[in-house]
Amino acid sequence: MSMPTGATLSNKDARDFLYFDEQTAARRVVVHAQGVKKVYQMGKIEVHALRGIDLSVYAGEYLAIMGPSGSGKSTFFNMIGGLDKPSAGKVFIDEVDIAQLDAFELAWLRCRKIGYIFQSFNLIPVMTCLENVMLPMTFAGVPSEEAFERSGEILKAVGLGHRLTHKPSQMSGGQQQRIAVARALANRPAIVLADEPTANLDVRTGEEIIELLVGLTEEMGVTVISATHDMKMLDKCDRVVWIRDGRCDRIEDRANIDIQVGDVSNVH
Ligand SMILES: Nc1ncnc2c1ncn2[C@@H]1O[C@H](COP(=O)(O)OP(=O)(O)O)[C@@H](O)[C@H]1O
Ligand SMILES: [Mg+2]
Repeated sequence: MSMPTGATLSNKDARDFLYFDEQTAARRVVVHAQGVKKVYQMGKIEVHALRGIDLSVYAGEYLAIMGPSGSGKSTFFNMIGGLDKPSAGKVFIDEVDIAQLDAFELAWLRCRKIGYIFQSFNLIPVMTCLENVMLPMTFAGVPSEEAFERSGEILKAVGLGHRLTHKPSQMSGGQQQRIAVARALANRPAIVLADEPTANLDVRTGEEIIELLVGLTEEMGVTVISATHDMKMLDKCDRVVWIRDGRCDRIEDRANIDIQVGDVSNVH
């Protein structure tokens, strides 16, 4: 594949070029789930949260994991983020089976490779905006002066340059989620996992957060995987994975989604 000419190089072309693997003529897979199952044991009852999910996620794409409440989105999200272990099946990140990692390597992966965003922001209330974003850098061993500077820059990039010394309680929900996005980016992760990032926000603020996440994939080549049942994601993401009852129902490219929007009314 030849490099597209500079003058007409759109973000999408650049992305496709950067992540196109000439040898295999395929885009690079960053996350691969293979037959992932999860059974929670609740006393004598077994809850089959995931019943075997196969999925490849490509570098630089924005993938939405859609499904009704209780369908297994958060469980799947925890598996691919290395936060919990599957009962069966495997998760590969950059072709490494994460079950093979020792505690130190797994901690490294969670700290450096993946950024996490949650529905309820999960910020540390006694810390300022800046300190919240600096924290993962401190864990990663970034010298404090550099962490200070970089946190300020990231916060500026998410539109909070004027709120560095505010505490989370002094900020709106949308602003708090922006801090969480900034924190997720602290160690320049390759992958950002967002679990229902807009669920606690009003429509407009939710849209702003989605735009911010889309921007990450387009401008920084970050792979964003977002679990959601927010229909606003539909026309923004590259692909949608529909999960129902712990199974992958279907996977759609955005180009095909519009036609099927009628289907989604039964999702909630
Ligand atoms: N820690 C847990 N222990 C037992 N059951 C759980 C646990 N977490 C989730 N579940 C169950 O697993 C299923 C999937 O849950 P979850 O992944 O949270 O779905 P979603 O994020 O799509 O709402 C649900 O039936 C839920 O009750
Ligand atoms: Mg959930």
